[in-house]
Amino acid sequence: MKTLVIVAHPNLEVSRVNQRWKEELLQYPNDITIHEIYKEYPDWSIDVPREQNRLEAYNHVILQFPLYWYSYPPLLKKWFDDVFAYGWAYGSKGDKLKGKMLGLAMSIGDKKENYSPEGSVSFTVDEVITPFKASIGHVGAVALPYFAVFGASFQASDEEINHSANEYINYIFKYQQ
Ligand SMILES: Cc1cc2nc3c(=O)[nH]c(=O)nc-3n(C[C@H](O)[C@H](O)[C@H](O)COP(=O)(O)O)c2cc1C
Repeated sequence: MKTLVIVAHPNLEVSRVNQRWKEELLQYPNDITIHEIYKEYPDWSIDVPREQNRLEAYNHVILQFPLYWYSYPPLLKKWFDDVFAYGWAYGSKGDKLKGKMLGLAMSIGDKKENYSPEGSVSFTVDEVITPFKASIGHVGAVALPYFAVFGASFQASDEEINHSANEYINYIFKYQQ
């Protein structure tokens, strides 16, 4: 297995984008491992050693989620808090994520043009994901360019979502080693 995709969607049954992306990922079982944290941890009690061991086995990790309040769904934030621990991810002996490539794959409800200084959001997506980039820098990993589909709340057609699923696979293989 070459790429680990952590899927964090609180309600995948009613998802259009993340569910479609997951179906596409499942077409590549020899190259991509899917790990659904909301399914794995319905009680939010994250098995930290298990998550750390899993991460150690991959050099390429994608975090896939719907953008909620310009941030991660809450279980993914908790996953960071618990798993990126002192002495493992950072600190004088914490080097287990050093050099690994981490990327974000996001479904974004709003339109692309709104994610700009002139748009209604006022910020670019790169600015919105600054906490991720700072965290990745803190643990010595490499933050890949993000992948996103916009208009995921209403506007995106089935055709656009299907197209984004193909592009998502290309994005994954582009950085896979
Ligand atoms: C609690 C919540 C917060 C959201 N916050 C944002 C947001 O900050 N920016 C945005 O563009 N869309 C936002 N959305 C829209 C989601 O990003 C969108 O519904 C999701 O990406 C669709 O993906 P899915 O079909 O896989 O569920 C939010 C949706 C919910 C339910």
